[in-house]
Amino acid sequence: MNYELDAGFTGARIIQGDATRILRTFPDAVFGGIVTDPPYASGAADQNAKQKSTASKYSSAKTANPLPDFEGDAKDQRSWTDWMTEWLLEARRCAKPGAPVCMFIDWRQLPSMTDALQWAGWTWRGVLVWDKINSRPQRGRFRQQAEFIVWGSNGHMPSDRAVPVLPGVFRQSMPAFTRRIHQTEKPLEVMRDIVKIVEPGGFILDPFAGSGTTILAAAREGYPAVGIELSEYYADAATKRIEAALAGAVAPAQDETEAV
Ligand SMILES: C[S@@+](CC[C@H](N)C(=O)[O-])C[C@H]1O[C@@H](n2cnc3c(N)ncnc32)[C@H](O)[C@@H]1O
Repeated sequence: MNYELDAGFTGARIIQGDATRILRTFPDAVFGGIVTDPPYASGAADQNAKQKSTASKYSSAKTANPLPDFEGDAKDQRSWTDWMTEWLLEARRCAKPGAPVCMFIDWRQLPSMTDALQWAGWTWRGVLVWDKINSRPQRGRFRQQAEFIVWGSNGHMPSDRAVPVLPGVFRQSMPAFTRRIHQTEKPLEVMRDIVKIVEPGGFILDPFAGSGTTILAAAREGYPAVGIELSEYYADAATKRIEAALAGAVAPAQDETEAV
């Protein structure tokens, strides 16, 4: 299918489908950067617990705002790492030389993600910290208060790109449970900061768009962007969210802090 991505595309759009298949249809070297938040296939200490619904793993079922489960989160460890490598390989083909990639992840999957990134031929450049501020307290343990953003580039990344010095730590609560559109929705403010790693005007890809936070953040920062989302429910929710926000309608507030 021709998604007309190389014909001066300047908008923000969500494509519903499987990223591993859709990436194969994209032209070479079209994206200025990849910013994404793949399913972590984590949130559990063992394989049985991993098979639970994403709602029970990621807590939104406990709230007054139950949301549908999302795709791809029950893979075992080796399948997940293999799958990550597969789509990262294809994404690198679609990325311009030197283009950055940034991917959210938790502490459990951090080592596998950095392996997959490098197996797919990207140059690993670092790990950013997202301090979620609030987190579930556990007696006798450290809080799991941070998630991470693994980042790299498609080979050499010149130091004279038109990109300012960017922070390595982001401090922002998750969107409040009651206002969330997706079970693992990321804060729009953090995404707006992260997309700035892409050179101005660069075309941004999020292969796992969820509720479209990356795509909306990219649009707000002036980048053209395309997201892919397998779940029909979330692809539709993301499209409506982006259209409403860009049309100036009131978007769900993301600045409410999450109750611990
Ligand atoms: C962690 S969520 C992204 C949440 C997003 N950052 C947000 O703020 O809403 C990952 C998303 O990837 C989607 N997904 C899983 N496997 C996929 C695949 N093969 N192709 C496209 N999307 C997929 C899931 O349905 C889920 O919505």
